Amino acid sequence: VKMRSCVFFLVLMCSEKLLAAGKPCDLPHVGNGLIAQYYYVFKSYYFPMREEQQLAYSCLAGYTTGAGMEGGRTTCTAEGWSPAPHCYRKCSRPLLDNGVFYSTEMYFKIHQKLEFKCDPGYHTPSGGTEDTVQCQAEGWSTQPSCTKNLDSCQVPSLHHGSYLTAQQELRPDETLLYRCEEGYHAAGGNATGAAVCLAHGWSLTPSCTKRTCPALSGIAHGGFHPVKTTYEEGDVVHFFCEGNYSVSEFDLIQCYYFGWYPDPPVCEDVKTKCPPPPLPPHTQMTTGGRTFHHGDRVRVRCQRGFQREGSEEIRCEEGKWTSPPVCVGTRDELVSEEPPSLESAAEATQARETPVGEDPMALGCFQTVVSLTRLPALTWLSGSHHLSPPLMPEMQQDCSSPPEIKNALLLGPVLRSYKNGSSVEYVCQRYHLLDGPSTVYCEKGNWTAQPVCLEPCTLNVTEMNRYNVELKWKQEELLFRHGDLVEFDCKEGYRFLQAAAVSPGREQCAHGRLKYPRCVAQAPAEKCGPPPSIANGALTLPPLPQYDSRSSVQYRCSDYYFLQGPETISCSEGQWTSPPVCIEPCALSEDEMERNNLLLQGLYGNQVHFYHGDYVGFYCKENHLGAESGATLFQVQCRRGQLMYPKCIER
Ligand SMILES: *[C@@H]1O[C@H](CO)[C@@H](O)[C@H](O)[C@H]1NC(C)=O
Ligand SMILES: *[C@@H]1O[C@H](CO)[C@@H](O)[C@H](O)[C@H]1NC(C)=O
Ligand SMILES: *[C@@H]1O[C@H](CO)[C@@H](O)[C@H](O)[C@H]1NC(C)=O
Ligand SMILES: *[C@@H]1O[C@H](CO)[C@@H](O)[C@H](O)[C@H]1NC(C)=O
Ligand SMILES: *[C@@H]1O[C@H](CO)[C@@H](O)[C@H](O)[C@H]1NC(C)=O
Repeated sequence: VKMRSCVFFLVLMCSEKLLAAGKPCDLPHVGNGLIAQYYYVFKSYYFPMREEQQLAYSCLAGYTTGAGMEGGRTTCTAEGWSPAPHCYRKCSRPLLDNGVFYSTEMYFKIHQKLEFKCDPGYHTPSGGTEDTVQCQAEGWSTQPSCTKNLDSCQVPSLHHGSYLTAQQELRPDETLLYRCEEGYHAAGGNATGAAVCLAHGWSLTPSCTKRTCPALSGIAHGGFHPVKTTYEEGDVVHFFCEGNYSVSEFDLIQCYYFGWYPDPPVCEDVKTKCPPPPLPPHTQMTTGGRTFHHGDRVRVRCQRGFQREGSEEIRCEEGKWTSPPVCVGTRDELVSEEPPSLESAAEATQARETPVGEDPMALGCFQTVVSLTRLPALTWLSGSHHLSPPLMPEMQQDCSSPPEIKNALLLGPVLRSYKNGSSVEYVCQRYHLLDGPSTVYCEKGNWTAQPVCLEPCTLNVTEMNRYNVELKWKQEELLFRHGDLVEFDCKEGYRFLQAAAVSPGREQCAHGRLKYPRCVAQAPAEKCGPPPSIANGALTLPPLPQYDSRSSVQYRCSDYYFLQGPETISCSEGQWTSPPVCIEPCALSEDEMERNNLLLQGLYGNQVHFYHGDYVGFYCKENHLGAESGATLFQVQCRRGQLMYPKCIER
């Protein structure tokens, strides 16, 4: 009890000192990050902090500061903590079909850029072949994508204009010209337009639109006439204000092809507005034609050869100018040209007495407090002790200790009771993804909706080895947050089992569970053994014991044998494609010719062997003719080594 009262005494001392020193900086909310835990426990001792004091914070795993670091410092300024302590989620590698990234990283820090290139025949959303996306606070600036190029562009129908060609379809790089009717403009802004057929469509879709100006929004304390939904070129609009208000600039504006000119005015309270500043005789104005409001100052200078009597500066005060100076003619004295005063300079050089304390613990006041933290009675999260006064029976609306959330950390001390409207903050443990509100409020005795911490997926190397897969992109830690897409690849010599799937290696981490794709060995299937041997033929080169996939070999048949089928075969998935066959030739038989009274036609000379499919010409010996047809000349085809000899008989 003695110790506690000492603590409270210190709190009073310190907070009074701090409040007196400047505008307070309260315990900051660090988005996706933390500050040292003693700050939460002894919140009231440390906060509010003084201007120029610094606070270090660290980011949760998978998050970085705006500068891409694991942690950072924030400084207390008159406007509060600066820069606002916040950690940003790293962007995970997006999916991309029909293109490649120039980086193999898995995670990207905020502001980091990722370049990609589309495969030939595909284009980026902007129509090019390469593009860049950037990791931003909300994720990638745009989704990288590669879309198939168009073979042609269809000519769209055109209202209020006409094409200069009758073509219905244009090929890439061709240009479509068109002209719009009077009062309408083409997509480029001129009366005529040109649209180029690009890989992703028209460079500027042909269209003829009426020249219009944007609709005018209503103005406070006034109105305008006429009120229309769209205004066309040449329309003039008149603005007016209620009593005690006047139009800020010009009350008439016109719609031109480039928009409204001048800009629409607003209605200003005349009490805060002054008439144009006076221009007394022999003075020169230094400020241009704008409107003047309460507090504005203007310098009124005398022309050369005149001397000023009265204040050079006049002020707009509650709708009136203060009295301007009088310029009196002199002969020899000229008005001195003073440089403008730099009011802020004096302020800026003003010495600062306050020490620039980097760490609040360096201050003696905190030293005492910190030494108290070592006392067991004040240990953070200890359930049996508390810092608040005991629960009063009439406090019906107080909440009891905040609920425990699995895998979450509660920032700050756990009290036995919390007042209506007070709040506690949760953060998730490493790699767990917070789903729901991080701040939970005590509302009339109940805590508001609590978040959950979604479990991450831890890669199981044993499982991965079992399925012969590895991570496609290098990564230090084998952890993925809920919702992350994980890309696997097969180990060397293996291929995906479900090869037909569009993207076989992609799996999503869901509530700590991750499916592993399966890869099967392709080593034996990949290479081929010696090519098959064929009858009456051989390889052009001696066979090897093993051939790589897609390699090929050539066959040749023995003399006079006819090669049917492909001359070359190739190795594909461990199998040779079908080899050719060698079909036997026909050999002329003197005996058969003699028996059938046949002679070989002269053009064949002494040829004995004929290829399969060749024709052989015979004729009958003298005084003989064909036994069946009565003809004397014959053409017979060699078929698989067989010749059907015709028969000649004596006339
Ligand atoms: C519009 O016409 C002007 C003058 O003929 C030309 O310089 C300009 O490039 C044209 N703009 C477009 C978008 O075609
Ligand atoms: C303008 O201001 C005067 C004085 O403040 C007030 O009496 C008068 O009613 C106001 N007129 C309008 C139209 O609000
Ligand atoms: C409790 O807090 C809520 C909001 O935080 C407020 O609307 C309500 O009036 C409070 N009730 C009492 C009795 O103070
Ligand atoms: C608090 O929650 C309990 C149980 O969920 C409910 O019966 C009670 O009405 C709630 N109290 C208030 C004030 O909402
Ligand atoms: C990985 O998976 C195997 C089963 O395939 C299991 O026995 C092992 O406990 C898992 N390892 C971890 C770290 O979960």
